Amino acid sequence: MLTADQSAAVDERTMAEVSRRRIFAIISHPDAGKTTLTEKILLYAGAIALAGAVRRKGQQRHARSDWMEMEQKRGISVTSTVLQFEYAGCCFNLLDTPGHQDFSEDTYRVLTAVDCAVMVLDAAKGVEPQTLKLFEVCRRLRLPVVTFINKMDLPGREPLQLLDDIERALGMTAAPRNWPIGAGHDFLGVYDIAAAQVLSFDRVARGERAAPVRIAGLDDPDLDLLLGERHARDLREATELLRGAVPAFDRERYLAGLQTPVFFGSALNNFGVEPFLAALAALAPPPAPRDSDRGPIDPLHHAFTGFVFKIQANMDPLHRDSMAFLRIVSGRFEKGMAVDHARLGRRLRLPRAHRVFAQERETTEEAFAGDVVGLVNPGIFILGDTVSDGLRVRFPPVPRFAPEHFARLRPSSVDKHKAFQNGLRQLEEEGAIQLLYEISAARREPILAAVGELQFDLVQSRLEREYRTPTTIERLSYRSAVWVQAPDPQAAIDWPMSGVLRARDREHRLVALCESRWVEERLAEKNPGLVLARIVDDQPIGENAERP
Ligand code: G4P
Repeated sequence: MLTADQSAAVDERTMAEVSRRRIFAIISHPDAGKTTLTEKILLYAGAIALAGAVRRKGQQRHARSDWMEMEQKRGISVTSTVLQFEYAGCCFNLLDTPGHQDFSEDTYRVLTAVDCAVMVLDAAKGVEPQTLKLFEVCRRLRLPVVTFINKMDLPGREPLQLLDDIERALGMTAAPRNWPIGAGHDFLGVYDIAAAQVLSFDRVARGERAAPVRIAGLDDPDLDLLLGERHARDLREATELLRGAVPAFDRERYLAGLQTPVFFGSALNNFGVEPFLAALAALAPPPAPRDSDRGPIDPLHHAFTGFVFKIQANMDPLHRDSMAFLRIVSGRFEKGMAVDHARLGRRLRLPRAHRVFAQERETTEEAFAGDVVGLVNPGIFILGDTVSDGLRVRFPPVPRFAPEHFARLRPSSVDKHKAFQNGLRQLEEEGAIQLLYEISAARREPILAAVGELQFDLVQSRLEREYRTPTTIERLSYRSAVWVQAPDPQAAIDWPMSGVLRARDREHRLVALCESRWVEERLAEKNPGLVLARIVDDQPIGENAERP
């Protein structure tokens, strides 16, 4: 429940608007059906008229590689950074997450901005490696997770086996909220456990429109006719079995991240999508308080506060601008309002704000805690920035992942030097890549530091396309980066002879690139007075290690 304890002055309308906000992201292993489910959710919410309006996947089939596909999708994955839609009296904000593991840092940042996650699993595959990774992030961020088991219309695993897989792989109980009727070609619909209702769907060509549904009770004399004798009997048996064999749904445990409610369905065929959306309206929590340097900030606090969780440049090739995406933590945003910019320590008028849906942008007049607005960013915002009005506050920095891949990058032609620098700076501000500079190098040549190798391809491709700067890349053999803190700045650091490259990051902090774990350990051994921090997600190594 929302409380207004910190916020006597919040007006009733703001309170009502904030209370109906629901902000979530969908996580999945590539191909499990995240895009399809997103589309179908929008279809059922009435936000699009025909599935396929958000993107046509067929056009991307011939993509040369995943990152190219990412690039092609950028138009969509970016413009759909936040999709806002109304359903059942709730105002949903659905934030997009990139699917490829090399962009996991991006995904992490997006997940810091949501209040719950939907996990899509492929019924034939269960929990896959990328699902597991993303789930770990949700766990760390203490996000409640709702599960949708997709592709029930294809041959897959048994429902009980899938629940068991979730429990074993993710270490939380899986409480089915519906039960599939039939499977594969014979998948007919779902049985809603709480309502004790049978929902039988009809297929619709290409799943473009809502699938007609017929609703019956278990004791309905027509059930045998509706489902066929065998399925009706199987369902009755299954419901008997369900009584004792599966965990009952427990809202508290779900909100605490100890249990996931599970829904079966087929996004492509629109089977079970609407009941899932209806359940999500009931399950997704309203905006949660967020920790700050002044304690948790309640979404109903009268002050306006928010933080930047994503920056994206050149979204619209015609405008060549950069956009900063702000999650509103508390209060109400108004067009043209003045705010305190915590990092810059000054007051400024917020630039034009947009609400973005599919390909269209719309100027935002107002928005509330639990919303995301896209601010046109003439270089004033970087990732993690806090803005506020009426309360000087700072939200914690958006954490960075430990880079594991390193390369030197050079413009192919010297006359492109300026465009090269500009482009790289922009990409670093977006968080697309980290830049390091070798200390003893004669020239200030950037070293790209990435979590996944595809980030290199992305940087090269974007420099070429958006800044007309072809580049050459030289991979380096280092495997990890540790941020070095000497309590005494004059203290000499005993560097191992080889296998270490000394560099500085953008904030001039000392970084050691190490060729192996062994080298890293030697560095620590030789310098017991140093604090070494390797950012593994948001867990630095070493006592008292600080986030770089
Ligand atoms: P992703 O975003 O998680 O990567 O998955 P996406 O929705 O793109 O779906 C991956 C593939 O799985 C797509 O097929 C999609 O049509 C298919 N799919 C999604 N949901 C279902 C479902 O419920 N049943 C079945 N049978 N298939 C499903 P594709 O061939 O890669 O693309 P397309 O040409 O069909 O669009």
